[in-house]
Amino acid sequence: MQIIEHAESLTPMHACALVPTMGALHAGHASLIQRAASDGLPVVVSLFVNPTQFAAGEDFSKYPRTLEADRELCQAAGATAIFIPSVQDMYPHGVDAANTEAGTLQLPLVATQPKLEDAQRPTHFAGVCQVVAKLFDMCQPATAYFGEKDFQQLRVIQDMARREGARWKNLVVHACPTIRESDGLAMSSRNRYLQADQRENALGLWRALTVAQASVRAGMDIAAVENEMLRVLAQHQLQVEYAVIRAPGTLLPIEKFEPKLKSGARALIAARLESVRLIDNASCGGA
Ligand code: PAF
Repeated sequence: MQIIEHAESLTPMHACALVPTMGALHAGHASLIQRAASDGLPVVVSLFVNPTQFAAGEDFSKYPRTLEADRELCQAAGATAIFIPSVQDMYPHGVDAANTEAGTLQLPLVATQPKLEDAQRPTHFAGVCQVVAKLFDMCQPATAYFGEKDFQQLRVIQDMARREGARWKNLVVHACPTIRESDGLAMSSRNRYLQADQRENALGLWRALTVAQASVRAGMDIAAVENEMLRVLAQHQLQVEYAVIRAPGTLLPIEKFEPKLKSGARALIAARLESVRLIDNASCGGA
């Protein structure tokens, strides 16, 4: 497996399958790499903790950096190369200038309208679009892989790639399922922030999502399903930022379950256990 540090050395990798990450890799990332490898193109995994998608006071400086373990996971999962640019490589004019530039980007509507992550982390998607667009420009991938765990991010990137189809030669963005621990907790690099005594309560997100699915099957209306999620989250001492049912494409509120929308409608949750912020989501039609 090749280790690439500078964008100039990516040229032979153009038309690859790209898996953008911030490192601190886990089995969820491995599944993205394996999926990419199974599609037959050389796989490039980028490892870059992007400063512009973190607001002041968020966890940029303490975000886990585990390069050696990440390298081994990428190799075992079938990556052809890892791309580990420096902040200087990505943002030659500095992070302050990059933050200013991010603020000027025209974001897809799904990055600003739903009032989900966009309301809780108002500068986040500008930074995500900025860095992902740079990675797409540098790698010129044919395909790119993102997890459904960050569902709004996935939708934002899909819409950005569609809008910029000519720039990225109709790059195909693949959505990959969330990988869960055996008890249902969605895998996340931030799970390592959880104290042992918070781990059980963290499971409240998945329990709330499965209760939402059962409530939809039982014929409850949207408000009742959302109340069920809030009830379960409260039982787990989770401080809720949102727990909602939304249209799967726009992530905007829906008034009632139309027969066609019912199974595709998305339940999305963000909640905190003290300083640890967790997000998860599932299709209402899930098993
Ligand atoms: O999901 C992530 O790890 C990041 O937001 C991404 C897409 C790699 C951009 O930094």
